[in-house]
Amino acid sequence: MIVPPGLRLPRHRATTANLGAVYPFQASQGLGARGVYLGNDLLSGGGAFCYDPFELYTQGVLTSPNMLVLGEIGSGKSTVVKTLLNRSVGVLGSPGGLPRWTAVLDPKGEYEATAESLGLALLRLRPGGTTRINPLDGGTSTDPDTLLTERTRLIVALVTELLDRALTPLEDAALGWAVAALTRSPRGRPPVLADAARLLADPTSEMVDQSGLTAPELARELAPVRHALGKLLDRDLRGMFDGPSTVTVNPGGRGLVLDLSAVHSDPRALRLVMVAATGWLQSIMAGSGGGPAPRRYQVLEEVWALLGSEHTAKYLQATFKLARAYGVANIAVAHRISDLQAQADDGTATAKVAAGLLADTQTRVLLRQGPDQVAQARGLLGLTAAEAALLPELAQGRALWKVADRTAVVQHRVAPDEWPLIDTNARLAL
Ligand SMILES: Nc1ncnc2c1ncn2[C@@H]1O[C@H](COP(=O)(O)OP(=O)(O)O)[C@@H](O)[C@H]1O
Ligand SMILES: [Mg+2]
Repeated sequence: MIVPPGLRLPRHRATTANLGAVYPFQASQGLGARGVYLGNDLLSGGGAFCYDPFELYTQGVLTSPNMLVLGEIGSGKSTVVKTLLNRSVGVLGSPGGLPRWTAVLDPKGEYEATAESLGLALLRLRPGGTTRINPLDGGTSTDPDTLLTERTRLIVALVTELLDRALTPLEDAALGWAVAALTRSPRGRPPVLADAARLLADPTSEMVDQSGLTAPELARELAPVRHALGKLLDRDLRGMFDGPSTVTVNPGGRGLVLDLSAVHSDPRALRLVMVAATGWLQSIMAGSGGGPAPRRYQVLEEVWALLGSEHTAKYLQATFKLARAYGVANIAVAHRISDLQAQADDGTATAKVAAGLLADTQTRVLLRQGPDQVAQARGLLGLTAAEAALLPELAQGRALWKVADRTAVVQHRVAPDEWPLIDTNARLAL
């Protein structure tokens, strides 16, 4: 007997009342199986949900590898990040056989176990402490133009935040001249912030010529900038950024965790420290030494601190824009959707910063939000009414994922040996 090819299944009989509830073409398309397993997609019948920002970027599904993770305290944000890192750093590499590189800005001091598990260096930064990083030390980049741009961008962001006002055109220009002078005439070691402060007090003749003022006049005009830098150099935040780095970071290694918990309780200090630390990381990432760049994650936990001021929100936005150039997936973690509306001076600037950040972030992981955030979720994140209404209903560990134009509702799964990485409940209970 000739058996026809194909699938052979037992015949199934049902009433039209039951069959009327079957929607065979209703399953979500999902993101495919490339990437690491994070949990189950409840929109595609509980199928495995796998994700890797770099893979989707390479496939053209995403035009930016950045991610935003939003959710109430305790909703499971850090768990999403830690399990993603733990699984992808262990399993997926980078082109050229390099390992993935991970940098975490950890304002709550909760990544120690993750650092241990992934072999990341753990650096504890605290005022008056012994670990120093020099935001101007330029990593291993040898390109003077890259160095100049990075250093200027960073020092302008720091001083703007320290002064809590926009820089005058002269202050802005003078910082650029000072950084150029320090970058063009290397002194056997990378410049430090104190070198810049010294040049502002005692400008070079070239700086004086460029300003059109006399040397004492220029020094007087720049005194506020110098005094502002003093906060990091000899006042309350000294001992973290005021000298040569005490650590060297191997860009070909695994990466690092910067524990910032010592300044967590002071939002302004945290903001400054985050700007200085991301600037330092940026310079490491900019200088991958010409070879193929590894795929890198930069995790910015508690990113609301940077969003709390217009200057630093703009800095963050610029950092996100650079992600593609440096092969970095930024993973920003914040609480409320309204955090994205930085407390900027006027509505237009605010809207622009939020829109710019979101435009460079095509993966949004939305965990539980209060009902008061639903309207903003629709407006800012472009959710449908049904998607936005889902947010207050999400249980711990469950998230609405928007990945470019794809949608999933994921129940995140924690493996038994991952509990020590994520169990912040247990730590709080101690
Ligand atoms: N997917 C999950 N499965 C089981 N428990 C979870 C899950 N996500 C979070 N939790 C629990 O919730 C706690 C808080 O999660 P966490 O990720 O630290 O929250 P958040 O970063 O949003 O404040 C964790 O310590 C864990 O006990
Ligand atoms: Mg957290």
